[in-house]
Amino acid sequence: MSGIFSTKPIDTLIGETEGKQGLKKTLNAVDLTLLGIGAVIGTGIFVLTGVAAAQYSGPALVISFILSGIACFFAALCYAEFSSMVPVAGSAYTYSYAALGEIWAWIIGWDLILEYAVSISAVAIGWSGYAVTLLKSIGINLPVAVTAAPGAGGVVNLPAMLIIALISWLLISGVRNTSNLNGVIVVIKLAVVVLFIVLAVWHVNPTNWHPFMPFGFHGVVSGAAIIFFAYLGFDAVSTAAEETVNPQKNLPRGILYSLLICTALYIIVAGILTGVVKYTQLNNPAPVAYALAKIGINWGSALVSVGAICGITSVLLVITYGQTRIFFAMSRDGLIPEIFGRVSEKHKTPITSTVIVAIVTIIASGFLPIGIVAELANIGTLFAFIIVSIGVWVLRYRQPDRKRAFRTPWVPVVVPLAVLSCGYLVFNLQEATLIRFVVWFAIGMVVYFAYSRNHSELQKKLASEDKSVS
Ligand code: ALA
Repeated sequence: MSGIFSTKPIDTLIGETEGKQGLKKTLNAVDLTLLGIGAVIGTGIFVLTGVAAAQYSGPALVISFILSGIACFFAALCYAEFSSMVPVAGSAYTYSYAALGEIWAWIIGWDLILEYAVSISAVAIGWSGYAVTLLKSIGINLPVAVTAAPGAGGVVNLPAMLIIALISWLLISGVRNTSNLNGVIVVIKLAVVVLFIVLAVWHVNPTNWHPFMPFGFHGVVSGAAIIFFAYLGFDAVSTAAEETVNPQKNLPRGILYSLLICTALYIIVAGILTGVVKYTQLNNPAPVAYALAKIGINWGSALVSVGAICGITSVLLVITYGQTRIFFAMSRDGLIPEIFGRVSEKHKTPITSTVIVAIVTIIASGFLPIGIVAELANIGTLFAFIIVSIGVWVLRYRQPDRKRAFRTPWVPVVVPLAVLSCGYLVFNLQEATLIRFVVWFAIGMVVYFAYSRNHSELQKKLASEDKSVS
């Protein structure tokens, strides 16, 4: 039984990536910050803000964003230290293998499927909603039957399925191409967010901010637990470790810069949005564009819609990329079948895992409603944040002398705050989400003991060492 708590030495983790499988090293701090922003600004700010303001937070949406942002900031400080120590693909999964042991790594890897794969589906559904709204505005009306899942009044969500297929194809074509494309899209996305701010700020009417907390403080926290989705993805930066130049320095920078930029923009957008339009009117599929139309700036509204679609597309790009890299790392460790780690000779990208992720997420996005998938993605991410934060502290005791290019400040304060703030958000999600999470966790345990434990490279190595000793 003790084998399940075996940890993987960090030197082994770093060493085994050198010269093996061969992902190209091309990304720098600016690329990573763009990668982070590419993963973060998307469905959350462009779509979910409206729901959160109208149903939970009211104008106190700003406070919801601050609460979620604080939880992310503590977790990001921990991610930054870990990524500077263990700069290999796999993110939280790999960190847990080094700090806490195989069983925890497995739990995290399994859990990250919720964060990444499930959110691919959620974001694609959000993309579909925006695309359908934009098409409608130019006179093309697609029938609901083919643009919404059964739980959302349709039969199948075809646009969501198509966009995932397109993104997967781009990723298979190679990271450098997609990183360049990502850079262009991120610039467009930032430009439309700034455009919204500059156009709308003059139309803020402070009476719209009253009542400030129409659903009380409990509503504000529930809103925070939902719009947490808007922050999701900054940790995707760390999944690119093996393709990064000088990862010890560039990974922490990429993580923290992207989070800080996004937090600042969210707080400003939330304040202006609820100041321009009464919160009760924000529950629609394109609240940011709606607000501009409402104050009579229709050209701005159209531009923001197009930018939002581009922005959400780049989120899909980065999250899909992140999921395939996590599978890549798990398969290298033998915890999932070897097929997930195969790299295409031609493009140097993990082609098989990209196709597998695409098939599963295409099916989920076509047939599941956005609410269920977005909340599941949130709980998966919050859980990962909690374990990573604890892992940083554990590793300070287990390996105090190891070089840390970035040190999380005040660990005895920051780690408990990360755990408490993320835990607080978890318990403000719907009860059904908590139950689904427990079921997913239980299935993961069955898979681990039935398959992963017997195929683990680390367990095999430990067993052969035991034999040679006896
Ligand atoms: N943060 C990402 C979004 O809002 C997942 O779309």
